[in-house]
Amino acid sequence: MPYRSCLAIVLAAGEGTRMRSTMPKVLQPLGGQALLAHVLTAARAAGCGKTTIVVGRDHDAVAALARELAPQARLVEQRERRGTAHAVLAAREVLGARADDILVMFADTPLVRPQTLTQLRGALARGAAVAVLGFRAADPSGYGRLVTQGDELIAIREERDATPGERAITFCNAGLMALAGSHALAILDAIGNANVKGEYYLTDAVAVARARGLRAVAIETGEDDVRGINTKAQLAEAEAVLQRRLRAAAMEAGVTLIAPETVFLCADTKLGKDVTVEPNVVFGPGVTVEDGATIRAFSHLEGAHVGKGARVGPFARLRPGTELGADVHIGNFVEVKAADIEAGAKANHLAYIGDARVGAGANVGAGTITCNYDGVAKHRTDIGKGAFIGSNSALVAPVTIGDGAYVGSGSVVTKDVPADALALARGEQTVKLGWAKRLRQVKALGKKVPKKRA
Ligand code: UD1
Ligand code: MG
Repeated sequence: MPYRSCLAIVLAAGEGTRMRSTMPKVLQPLGGQALLAHVLTAARAAGCGKTTIVVGRDHDAVAALARELAPQARLVEQRERRGTAHAVLAAREVLGARADDILVMFADTPLVRPQTLTQLRGALARGAAVAVLGFRAADPSGYGRLVTQGDELIAIREERDATPGERAITFCNAGLMALAGSHALAILDAIGNANVKGEYYLTDAVAVARARGLRAVAIETGEDDVRGINTKAQLAEAEAVLQRRLRAAAMEAGVTLIAPETVFLCADTKLGKDVTVEPNVVFGPGVTVEDGATIRAFSHLEGAHVGKGARVGPFARLRPGTELGADVHIGNFVEVKAADIEAGAKANHLAYIGDARVGAGANVGAGTITCNYDGVAKHRTDIGKGAFIGSNSALVAPVTIGDGAYVGSGSVVTKDVPADALALARGEQTVKLGWAKRLRQVKALGKKVPKKRA
């Protein structure tokens, strides 16, 4: 097929009042990313080289995220909400620039897959001027109905404006639409607002196109593809759909998920081949796990990189800035933050390692804490390769433990330890021979134990 250029117009000017949230709807997270991010990713994957995002008045947070996610995209403001066609026309300038295909997308419909968008574009390539995405709704109420005749789409009727006969139709408008660039502006400009709401409906593009002798078609897709999100409950339903997709994709790529339905992934989670994820693991944004690593049950990872063959958990927490080298072991109840744990190093039990480097092959004993915060600023701990940190040590940063050095258990280390040295920083032990035996004898005689004996 000959190349066709594509422009995406993403409508993100909605108020999202039904979310009952101070956060704008299109910034709400799904799979760890804003709804808007999903839509922009799908548009890009479907070959839209250019994107225009229509934002509402005073939606600074939306505009800021849009700039961050798509620095090349154009942002336009829809000052008043006067309907979906009015919103598209806020992008009038780019509509005139004549892309072959124009894809109108809703920022609150984040599950649409690139292949579905490609199908819509395909209909334009075959000569339609308007291609609308439709689905069979279990409950069609609230949706525009697609009035069809054979392959032809005759009209879209908004529920408010529909006759009882039209309301009985279950083939519904998903909202997404592709318009031939050569006709888009003329069609949109011809849309009026003679309807119950007095709004300019994008859906009227169908009737307008047909009146001009142009073709309109409906492309059918599954309901999951086009779930619109208006409430927190719908956000949760969409999350469930996305999680199923992400788990299936991970398994398809060679990841073992022992109980897939208990593992939560982010849209950007990257899991290598032969990675095993045990039940009840949660991946926050920004996690990469290299081949052959195992994430054991009940672990929580976020902003972390796990090297080849490493073992994490059970019950481990990796926070942002965690970098685990190959074959590292991070065991139960260990928290790691902003730390490089080099190849083969181990922290197997009950530790906090933050703002630190742990050199290759070093061993961090149970109960070790890097005391990285002095109440004002954060400081670094540097543990050399092959070092051994005895259990229950507190390493008071900034502090350096040299290569191969030992720290005795229970030490509070406040000064640097040279390579290959032993540091002991704890109260010396005193031993009183026979003391316990004497105590028992005194008690057996029924005497009061003198207070100061110990
Ligand atoms: C729209 C469709 C309906 C379809 C449904 C699918 C129209 C007229 N109706 O109805 O046929 O079944 O979606 O979910 O298109 N927006 C703006 N500016 C506006 C108005 C809307 O940016 O002035 C944005 C909204 O933020 C939203 C999208 O456009 O992302 C759709 O608007 P909404 O009010 O939700 O339309 P629906 O009534 O759901
Ligand atoms: Mg809607």
